[in-house]
Amino acid sequence: MSMGDREMDLIPAPSAIEGPTRCGVLLDSRTALWAAPGTGTTERWLRSTLGGALGLPLPPGEEEGTNTVRLRLDDALEPEAYQLSVVTNWGIEIRGGSAAGVFWGAQTLRQLIGADAFRRAPIRPDVQYGIAHQTIRDAPRFGWRGLMLDVARHFMPKDGVLRYLDLLAAHKLNVFHFHLTDDQAWRVQIKRYPKLTEVGSWRARTKFGHRASPLWEEKPHGGFYTQDDIREIVAYAAERHITVVPEIDIPGHSQAAIAAYPELGNIDVIDTTSLSVWDTWGVSKNVLAPTDNVLRFYEGVFEELLDLFPSEFIHVGGDECAKDQWKESQTAQVRIKELELEDEDELQSWFIRHFDNWLSARGRRLIGWDEILEGGLAEGAAVSSWRGYAGGVTAARAGHDVVMCPEQQVYLDHRQDAGEDEPVPIGYVRTLENVYRFEPVPPQLTETEARHVIGTQANVWTEVMEDQARVDYQTFPRLAAFAEVAWSALPAPAERDFADFERRMTVHYGRLDALGVGYRPPTGPLPWQRRPGVLGRPIEGEPPNV
Ligand code: ACM
Repeated sequence: MSMGDREMDLIPAPSAIEGPTRCGVLLDSRTALWAAPGTGTTERWLRSTLGGALGLPLPPGEEEGTNTVRLRLDDALEPEAYQLSVVTNWGIEIRGGSAAGVFWGAQTLRQLIGADAFRRAPIRPDVQYGIAHQTIRDAPRFGWRGLMLDVARHFMPKDGVLRYLDLLAAHKLNVFHFHLTDDQAWRVQIKRYPKLTEVGSWRARTKFGHRASPLWEEKPHGGFYTQDDIREIVAYAAERHITVVPEIDIPGHSQAAIAAYPELGNIDVIDTTSLSVWDTWGVSKNVLAPTDNVLRFYEGVFEELLDLFPSEFIHVGGDECAKDQWKESQTAQVRIKELELEDEDELQSWFIRHFDNWLSARGRRLIGWDEILEGGLAEGAAVSSWRGYAGGVTAARAGHDVVMCPEQQVYLDHRQDAGEDEPVPIGYVRTLENVYRFEPVPPQLTETEARHVIGTQANVWTEVMEDQARVDYQTFPRLAAFAEVAWSALPAPAERDFADFERRMTVHYGRLDALGVGYRPPTGPLPWQRRPGVLGRPIEGEPPNV
């Protein structure tokens, strides 16, 4: 018999545990599953996951039966909170404040069973799996616990996206920010504008390494999601209580769209018909023209998007919009005058405010990178604070909701160690411990202001991640530390028990191994994970604004 992992090996750490005792319950082929109305997502997930991993059929059971896993809702709990009780004879009960709470309880149950529960087929058919008697009470610190994945710089095929949704769920993360468009690609089918994907979803070659690198990958790179693919991704996420927040980046980071539809660009400044999807990294100067036609075009894009994504928030990017072309463009300058704007920065704000109003009128809320603050925002709009904490502090003080994702702390494309073998040649050194000590709520906020920090997310930009193995390496194990920051009620950064987290990670690596995650080993990259010769931006030292 295997008694699975000990309670203190859970990641993210739960709020409270009573027990465990030395006795426990066994899961076997007679273990039944009883699911109260409203808990169907977890019922389906348990049957498919534990059925696959351990060969447990989990036949339908009775509310009062013995040897039964019971799922129910409990109004007395906060929406995402759960209570998991493992009791003699009677079996296992998961109560949740909502269907999501029950689901997070089931994630804890899976960890308690052990690493074998993370496989897709049984490897020890003779072993009976047991769980010690105990009661776990748990609830998340933040309502927005996210991961952003950039599928524009390098495409992640649909299967890989579904796999990442499973990895998010296993870490009790509940927002998938889907960065679908950029200078280097457009990845979502828009039926009224077929060239966005026919032209915009691939490029002839790709810079290999940092933008100053002399290396190129001399082969086409591409891919996109059909609308049915997107529906499947959104539904798969919803079954796991994950919200998919799509991002269409405007008015900068838009060269792929302009390559597809040259009339979207500043045609009085450059011949946009000569543009192709960008094949290198950085911030392209080719940005959208501030014209009514461009607004109408993107309203069409967002109309299709709203049909696909039920998320309350729609991300419109808004970051790093180069102003060079607007400075030179007659059309842009006339627009600035007409609108009685101060300068090109205000023109950018006008652009964003248009979609802020447009989304609000359709019952959605705009979210954008912190540059969108610069020209004032509608009341319901929210900000992803990426250039440090400052944008988030300003936004929270102005009454806007904030998702904290400062690049100095939780950009997972940054290297994990200063060593020569570290394969990612960009940015700051952000170790597992650095991420574990990341605090999403800056101390300068008052309690009322801090309530506007609705959560936090880690961002995975993929310029230097050509495939899933690279994404896994950069994302894990740091996403496990990030998940604990987002979920658990940890003390102040300096007081966090990193040694205990590392100890729990020794168990968690077994779960990641069973899931087939190509994480960075604690001893450093394996020979095939190193990338000698790939030129990168130098290490930038200790990040400011910590
Ligand atoms: C960003 O990293 N440009 C949001």
